[in-house]
Amino acid sequence: MTKTVVVVGTQWGDEGKGKITEYLSSKANIVVRYQGGNNAGHTIVFKQEKFKLNLIPSGIFRAEKVYLGNGMVINPKALIEEMKVLNRKGIDTSSIRISNRAHVILPYHIELDCLQEELKADQKVGTTKKGIGPAYVDKYDRIGIRIGEFIDSEIFGEKLQINLAEKNKLFSLYNKPPLCFQEIYQEYLEYARILKPYVTDTSYELDEAYRLGKKILFEGAQGIMLDIDHGTYPFVTSSNPSAGAVSIGAGIGPNLIDEVVGVVKAYSTRVGEGAFPTELKDEIGDYIRDRGNEYGTVTGRPRRIGWFDGVIVSQSRRVSGLTGLSINLLDVLSGLKTLKLCVAYELAGEEIKYVPATIKEFSKCTPKYIEMPGWSEDITQIKQFSELPLNAQNYVKKIEEITKVPVVMVSVGPDREQTIIIKTIF
Ligand code: GDP
Ligand code: IMO
Ligand code: MG
Repeated sequence: MTKTVVVVGTQWGDEGKGKITEYLSSKANIVVRYQGGNNAGHTIVFKQEKFKLNLIPSGIFRAEKVYLGNGMVINPKALIEEMKVLNRKGIDTSSIRISNRAHVILPYHIELDCLQEELKADQKVGTTKKGIGPAYVDKYDRIGIRIGEFIDSEIFGEKLQINLAEKNKLFSLYNKPPLCFQEIYQEYLEYARILKPYVTDTSYELDEAYRLGKKILFEGAQGIMLDIDHGTYPFVTSSNPSAGAVSIGAGIGPNLIDEVVGVVKAYSTRVGEGAFPTELKDEIGDYIRDRGNEYGTVTGRPRRIGWFDGVIVSQSRRVSGLTGLSINLLDVLSGLKTLKLCVAYELAGEEIKYVPATIKEFSKCTPKYIEMPGWSEDITQIKQFSELPLNAQNYVKKIEEITKVPVVMVSVGPDREQTIIIKTIF
């Protein structure tokens, strides 16, 4: 019997992980985020209501408990605001548990994120400017402030003073105004007081829950092409969205993971900079952006659009051990006469089926496509795979063939009801 499922993004994020996690959470007892922070933006739709989540796991609506794991970087102010927004809509947030080992994002991380992007100029990553990278840098530099320290006013004050002194020296070097210790300390002490009751040893609690037979869903943020190791470095985020990070970022053994569901858009999108071999800069791209409402949840930026890229999804299968695929936003492709799917790249006259490690080589990859006939029907109300237009069925089967991962779900609209189940997961 399946007890644990990981949901990961297989492209550059925004594949609809939030929708799928929320859908599957009806069967799970617990939902856990294991990396990233409020760079994530997950949209969930049900009963004519739309919710946007950045830090809180998408299981908040139906699971018994949701966990913010130790692998996350948490902006306390943003978390409290997100809780308030949900509360105002009548959603109870008392089931949230925050790892005492997660790291805290403070105002200087956000300032640094902006400064670094400014200094990189045309080499900028196009980050969400939420301070994610600088917070992870502090973690690995062993100067970060963990949630467990943050809720201890004495340790928080001491560490904040030391860190801020160092960051202010850096700011002065670049003619940026210093940040004031007292202002940050007083404001954040209040956030710490509010969050303290939610803080716990999440790994310990997850272990207990697992032993009691609870079903656990792990929700990835971002996508594997944004993974710091396996993505299109340096145009990536600063954490590991890949499934392997679940073990470290939630504090469970790797042998406990039963299934890994890769969420994939029926086409590709990317926000931010970096090469994008199948990018469409024409009216087909505009048509897809329009129909898919492809604008960033966090920053509102128009998402770049491209054809489905089998090379990157296959790389995601390889590095994350995908056991099933959820193909999302299939409805968006209705009305296109011909659909293209990238099955390989051409690099220096050779055909390759992997993502090259250097951005220099990746930028030179040209996609090799196969073409398939599209369909014109509206498929947003379809409940069974066999009811989909034949060309849509064939498109889904082709993705299965290219990626060598069985398709377990197909999503035909943002609402939780607009989901076709091919194989039951939990
Ligand atoms: P996430 O970051 O992976 O959770 O994805 P986002 O929520 O940022 O972006 C996915 C967008 O597509 C959201 O606006 C969803 O409401 C929407 N969405 C999810 N699944 C579908 C689908 O099957 N069809 C359509 N039309 N929209 C979808
Ligand atoms: P979800 O969970 C799409 C992108 C940014 C930028 C790069 C680095 O909604 O799929 P960062 O702020 O993390 O340092 O930015 O990563 N990025 C995302 N793109 N969806 C996301 O999250 C993203 N989180 C970060 O646009 O290119
Ligand atoms: Mg998103």
